[in-house]
Amino acid sequence: MPNITLHSLTRMKLAGDKATCVTSYDASFTQRINQAGIDIILVGDSLGMVLQGNDSTLPVTMEHMVYHTRCVRAGNSQCMIMADMPFMSYRTTEQAMTNATDLMQAGAQIVKLEGGLWLKDTVSKLYEQGIPVCAHLGLTPQAVNKLGGYRVQGKTPEQAASLLNEAIELEAAGASIILLECVPNAVGKAITEAVNVPVIGIGAGPDTDAQVLVIYDMLGITPHKPARFVKDFLSQEGSVLGALESYVSEVKSGQFPAPEHCFN
Ligand code: KIV
Repeated sequence: MPNITLHSLTRMKLAGDKATCVTSYDASFTQRINQAGIDIILVGDSLGMVLQGNDSTLPVTMEHMVYHTRCVRAGNSQCMIMADMPFMSYRTTEQAMTNATDLMQAGAQIVKLEGGLWLKDTVSKLYEQGIPVCAHLGLTPQAVNKLGGYRVQGKTPEQAASLLNEAIELEAAGASIILLECVPNAVGKAITEAVNVPVIGIGAGPDTDAQVLVIYDMLGITPHKPARFVKDFLSQEGSVLGALESYVSEVKSGQFPAPEHCFN
């Protein structure tokens, strides 16, 4: 078992201690991430963009996710490993059960699914069977074609209320973590205060219980223009370990995310 568990993350939320998360897809980065004292590793389907060079996460398959989850597991000693369920791998509850089982057997401790209220039954069934779920809300990159681009979500009062309702309902259905991507600060704060489970934010403001970044983004080696919520920690530190340690320290002290990384 890793040192970081859902229980320890919930204790951190109650104590007001910020948690840290970065993506990883291999054993070597995972070892550095462990050394830096990061709490959660996300084996993200962002690998479709940063490793495979695609312009979205849609081409990522279960085979890719299982392979990279195994690689991360091989390098991990203490972080909690969260693995993404890729595009269309949880169309039905039965399909979600089969695919989530493969990710857990590859080394994940929790799986992440993108979506809203339609996920409730699937979340409940996975939870009943011992598979914790992180519900990814807000900007859900697998729905980029429906959303019309990588845009900030929850900007109107109606959209914000609907996101809040989704978070509350998914927690009630059994979600163990909520991940919020690209929402105004006020939405990140309201959802974090409304639910008892830890909330991880990316472009969701400084008030969420934890922050996540794609490791290639926070090392400044992604080829495309970085999103507003990204900070390059490598350029100021000069080593991968130094960058990760600086990220941990800035998240824990509340220095990151700063106003220039947030949406209002
Ligand atoms: O796949 C990923 O890296 C993610 C993060 C952007 C949260 O889902």
